[in-house]
Amino acid sequence: MAKSIFCLLMTMAILVMSGCATSPKSGKGFTLPEGDALAGRANFVSLRCNACHKVDGVDQVAEQGWEAEPPITIGGEVTRIETYGELVTSIINPSHRLAKGYPVYAVSVDGKSKMKNYNDAMTVTQLTDLVAFLQSKYKLLEYELTEYPLYGP
Ligand code: HEC
Repeated sequence: MAKSIFCLLMTMAILVMSGCATSPKSGKGFTLPEGDALAGRANFVSLRCNACHKVDGVDQVAEQGWEAEPPITIGGEVTRIETYGELVTSIINPSHRLAKGYPVYAVSVDGKSKMKNYNDAMTVTQLTDLVAFLQSKYKLLEYELTEYPLYGP
């Protein structure tokens, strides 16, 4: 009995300690200003993101040496929309988390994303507009609740 109470207290202590300690590198407190999706679409084309990405309503372009094979689709029907934080991270630090649903060799070389680095070529306004545009391309799927028949006696 005493042992189980001790275990419970230890677990609570660990939870409290881990909850309080926010790493200085945490994204907590990060908020992006509202972007303009229309301007984001224009940036998507002018920065040639569409050489490697497929987005509904945007034609793909051929860019020598840049193409991703298969093209990485952004948007579509999902059960959870990518957050601003996730999209910004995907753009400015692509290797942090590689896109899901593709073989590793198709999207990365030696663990590094094949995506072009735009950090010295893009303004913050372009980034916020791009994120607003890309986020508008996701469509949240409604959950279909499973119907369980009622069993009576
Ligand atoms: C040279 C090809 C290339 C170009 C150009 C490129 N990307 Fe990517 N991008 C990739 C690849 C490959 C991935 C998948 C690996 C990864 O997640 O980093 C990716 C992943 C992403 C993701 C994450 C997708 C997901 O489902 O997780 C976003 C968002 C993204 N790119 C946005 C952009 C934007 C915005 C631009 C233009 C400013 C751009 N990319 C230009 C190749 C490219």
